[in-house]
Amino acid sequence: MSAVERVSSPGRAAPADSASVAPSPRAGGTADDDILLQVTGLTVARKDAPSVHIVDDVSFTLRRGEAMGLAGESGCGKTTTALAVLGLLPGGLRRVSGELVFHGGGRARPLHRLGGAAMRRIRWASISMIFQGAMNALDPVKTVGSQIAEAITLHEPKVGRTAVSRRVGELLDQVGVPAKRSVYYPHEFSGGQKQRIMIALALACRPELVIGDEPTTALDVITQAQILDLLGELRRELGLSLLLITHDLAVLAQACETIAVMYAGQIVETGSVDTVYRDPQHPYTARLLDLLGAHDAPGTLPKPIPGNQPRPNARPSGCRFRDRCTFATDRCAAEAPDLRVIGEGLLPHAARCHFAPWPDGAVDRPDRSDRLDGQEVAP
Ligand SMILES: Nc1ncnc2c1ncn2[C@@H]1O[C@H](COP(=O)(O)OP(=O)(O)O)[C@@H](O)[C@H]1O
Ligand code: SF4
Ligand SMILES: [Mg+2]
Repeated sequence: MSAVERVSSPGRAAPADSASVAPSPRAGGTADDDILLQVTGLTVARKDAPSVHIVDDVSFTLRRGEAMGLAGESGCGKTTTALAVLGLLPGGLRRVSGELVFHGGGRARPLHRLGGAAMRRIRWASISMIFQGAMNALDPVKTVGSQIAEAITLHEPKVGRTAVSRRVGELLDQVGVPAKRSVYYPHEFSGGQKQRIMIALALACRPELVIGDEPTTALDVITQAQILDLLGELRRELGLSLLLITHDLAVLAQACETIAVMYAGQIVETGSVDTVYRDPQHPYTARLLDLLGAHDAPGTLPKPIPGNQPRPNARPSGCRFRDRCTFATDRCAAEAPDLRVIGEGLLPHAARCHFAPWPDGAVDRPDRSDRLDGQEVAP
């Protein structure tokens, strides 16, 4: 794992345009027996090019009942991280190092050491995933009820037919689809209802952790808000933990208490949603949050961050964000920044930037020349 430096935070005011944030009910830290999933130093590489790390030394902790968001632009490694947790990496990729320990069902299980059969028992039953665009993956020639029933009997073969059909009804009810519609086929439902059915499928075997990979991306804004509300309600009712993967920080703020921002395969900032949205300490996070603020001014469109995320085999030396960072200095090209812990919390506030913590408010303004007069801002 990278070395982690501990530094003090100057404490800064909230940016005027920051999004509304979810409450952080357990900020301040909880006991270790609250940990559900511990990912330490996860590195995933291409099999045909082992030095190309798609996911690079990723570590995070997810606690029971917590909703954590994994954010970042397309291609930064979010889905690969989730697939590694589930032991479902595509054939071209391999976990080269790192530990994934799941503390569900009252015991610690090292997922990284489990074989195929053991992982299959954990998937759905303990950890389930709602895949990106999953609602289109429902089998068109089977009723939705029979598809949910199949998921239950596959993992719990001893459950009788009557009990299965009762559970199917309860699950549909839980996600707001009338139980009597279990005999309908997927094409007879709207996109939002299909996504609700996918959530019922994910809950079919009463998992402790649900991973949602862009579960609302294909939906209109109103349906998206309804699905996020539903996930929140289910989480509270069932005590679930949620790992929500999304490029959309507004979605994340609505659904999560903690956030890990990824860039070019690495985590570049972590913390409670409340802290990170009010006081971002990585220029990349600050620019992502600017995109949210741009929606507030009538008639303006959000300005994308100039440049593109580097491909995994063409990352710059030093800081991977430096080609797009208005604050970059010679040091940023010469030296790769560590993830520095700035403050405590459910997920400690940390940023992978040489200059974190930033002088009051400095990171919030994208144009460096505007306010720094060409001066280097190293603390
Ligand atoms: N099977 C694969 N073989 C080679 N590269 C892959 C494979 N799957 C994903 N990648 C690459 O890994 C990077 C991260 O992909 P992904 O985890 O899907 O990102 P995200 O979910 O953040 O959009 C991308 O550059 C993608 O091209
Ligand atoms: S280390 Fe340098 S290039 Fe990287 S985010 Fe910080 S200021 Fe920008
Ligand atoms: Mg993805």
